[in-house]
Amino acid sequence: MTSESVVLVDDLHKKYGSFTAVDGVSFDIRRGETFALLGPNGAGKSSTIEILEGYRDRTSGTVSVLGTDPEKGGLDWKAKLGIVLQSSGESGNVTVREQLSHFARFYPSPRDVDEVIAAVGLEEKQKTLIRKLSGGQRRRVDVALGVIGRPELLFLDEPTTGFDPEARRQFWELIRRLKAEGTSILLTTHYLDEAAQLSDRAGVIAGGRMVALGGINEIGGPDARTPVVRWLENGVQREQRTTTPGAVVAQLGEPEGLEVIRPSLEDVYLQLVGDTESGAFASEAGASTAKEEVAL
Ligand SMILES: Nc1ncnc2c1ncn2[C@@H]1O[C@H](COP(=O)(O)OP(=O)(O)OP(=O)(O)O)[C@@H](O)[C@H]1O
Ligand SMILES: [Mg+2]
Repeated sequence: MTSESVVLVDDLHKKYGSFTAVDGVSFDIRRGETFALLGPNGAGKSSTIEILEGYRDRTSGTVSVLGTDPEKGGLDWKAKLGIVLQSSGESGNVTVREQLSHFARFYPSPRDVDEVIAAVGLEEKQKTLIRKLSGGQRRRVDVALGVIGRPELLFLDEPTTGFDPEARRQFWELIRRLKAEGTSILLTTHYLDEAAQLSDRAGVIAGGRMVALGGINEIGGPDARTPVVRWLENGVQREQRTTTPGAVVAQLGEPEGLEVIRPSLEDVYLQLVGDTESGAFASEAGASTAKEEVAL
């Protein structure tokens, strides 16, 4: 952790009644960095983010966001944040343009409304009432509202849920531009390709605990990322995991069906999360198999 960290989280705990949703999470986000918080449904991602945003109280642990404890953050602090909640309930009886112009006025140095409308691809819908937009279009308004205040730190909780593929690419461009301007970003997403495209570092959280933390190309460790060379030998598939796929391929020559597969972030993630959850799922799978056997 350095003084250039815009977010510092140390041993964070969040309980809802007797249920522990966040169970000792620690990480930091450096200035200008895009950090992805990944993990299955119910892992504790939104709970963590909403504590950082000042939307939720924490049970224990130390949290600093732009040098301030979120439970004590004032208006000046809030004006430096951009927030896209997982569910916004943005169903206004005003147009896209009116809503953005209205919110822009709360910030000392807002972005140009037209520029933001174009960046999220809502030019043709800018005079439409928000309640008449489609789900994906409404989500684009959420993203637009998150960036209108020219935030120093942007929180994006599953921002692209409901986006069509083109809108997703457009969003990636927007994030790259914000990043180039020096914006620090905390992103959660279930789209692992999105996380791989946009993030510098990631943390994987499962059952309220951080199970892996590291550079987006290193997380999970070198073993999880070892490439696999696959080919057919007399019609039978063969494969070899190797750190020197070039050498293996050179030895093989030109076999049928030759391919070199590098594990994607999604492969690494599934392995990490599978390892943590295998206990629970294994017993469930065992039970259903047993039932099937009885039925047969
Ligand atoms: N207000 C609440 N009261 C009680 N339990 C809650 C509350 N909010 C969240 N939880 C529980 O805390 C756990 C973590 O929820 P959280 O929303 O942080 O998960 P998440 O990682 O964001 O999941 P998802 O990927 O589905 O958005 C879940 O088991 C959830 O049911
Ligand atoms: Mg969530």
